[in-house]
Amino acid sequence: MNDRMSRKWTPRTMAAQMFGIGEPITRGVVAPIHVATTFIRDPDNQYRSGFAYGRPDNATVRHAEAAIAALETADAALLFASGMAAATAVVLALDPPAHIVAAQEMYWALRQWLVREAPRHGYRVDLVDMTDLDAVRRTVTRETRLVWIETPSNPLWTITDVAAVAGIAHAAGARLAADSTVATPVFTRPLALGADIVMHSATKYLNGHSDVVAGALATARRDELWSRIQSVRTQYGAILGPFEAWLLMRGLRTLPLRVQAQSETAALLALRLCRHRRVARVLYPGVQEHPGHAIAARQMSGFGAMLSIRVKGGEAAALATAAQVTLWRRATSLGSVESLIEHRASVEGPDSACPPDLLRLSVGLEDADDLYADLDQALRTGASRS
Ligand SMILES: Cc1ncc(COP(=O)(O)O)c(C=O)c1O
Repeated sequence: MNDRMSRKWTPRTMAAQMFGIGEPITRGVVAPIHVATTFIRDPDNQYRSGFAYGRPDNATVRHAEAAIAALETADAALLFASGMAAATAVVLALDPPAHIVAAQEMYWALRQWLVREAPRHGYRVDLVDMTDLDAVRRTVTRETRLVWIETPSNPLWTITDVAAVAGIAHAAGARLAADSTVATPVFTRPLALGADIVMHSATKYLNGHSDVVAGALATARRDELWSRIQSVRTQYGAILGPFEAWLLMRGLRTLPLRVQAQSETAALLALRLCRHRRVARVLYPGVQEHPGHAIAARQMSGFGAMLSIRVKGGEAAALATAAQVTLWRRATSLGSVESLIEHRASVEGPDSACPPDLLRLSVGLEDADDLYADLDQALRTGASRS
């Protein structure tokens, strides 16, 4: 971020102005894509540009990192080839046999990695219900190096009290990392609530157009752990490519507007679906009955654009409903401008803890009435066909 774009401006203003990053030679208002993988040494053997090779660092990647750091009010950010690469880098930066306490309910692939793969690297992992603060206090010990939370968590949108868990982690001498993919920096800034590291699958809202796989970490301070994470990225070759970083930067420019509009539509749909006779339950932190509503209202400035519904008639009715949509796209992932519907248990497989009657809805930028009309007809036709 350049001096013109200091953090006195709101995220919406910074994003619209591409965080003040342009092209100094031509004075283009848009930053270029830097593709070079290697850089010339000066005769005195130094690299004065600050760049030597493309695996540790890239100028376009740095641009997008500066933008994410600004949005998260972070000291620094790092971009990775995927959300999974970003999350696992935090763990791999710790010395085994470090103890890690993670949320029982979180993105299933990361939970599986923590339970199955992390112990193969020598880490000890315990899962805990993060909404039960007494259980968290009992599980986090002096041995714990990292507490991992995800809020709202995928796909029940359970809310974790970031400040409370940060207090427990810090009292034990552990760090708190928060997967804030669903909240986005527009609705929650976990670092301001006490988290040490915030993580995003930038594949989702940050990019927002279903055309980039990327992961991001942002840190409250550039400390020893952050240097270790940076060196894990270099050693594992997990940096994001420059084209993807540039597309991500382009997506970031409309992030505040996109997620605001998507969240408003999600709230409207949630209210209407609560009254639908084919819907047994709506899971959305914005509805009062959601167990995390009060905490979400406190720590989020919007409830986000992800919700799930539990369909009356069980798994068969849920699958039949998903089969009947014509506007919603039946696809995995979330956070893009097009709305997606997914029978989550089918994706997660036999080990899934996800209720079989659950459909996950990622609300995009379409008209709210169109989205509701399509779901309504799918729920009705699905019920008659299941
Ligand atoms: C909440 C959450 N965290 C992390 C990830 C992993 O991100 P990626 O697919 O970019 O590796 C996902 C992917 O769906 C996710 O939903």
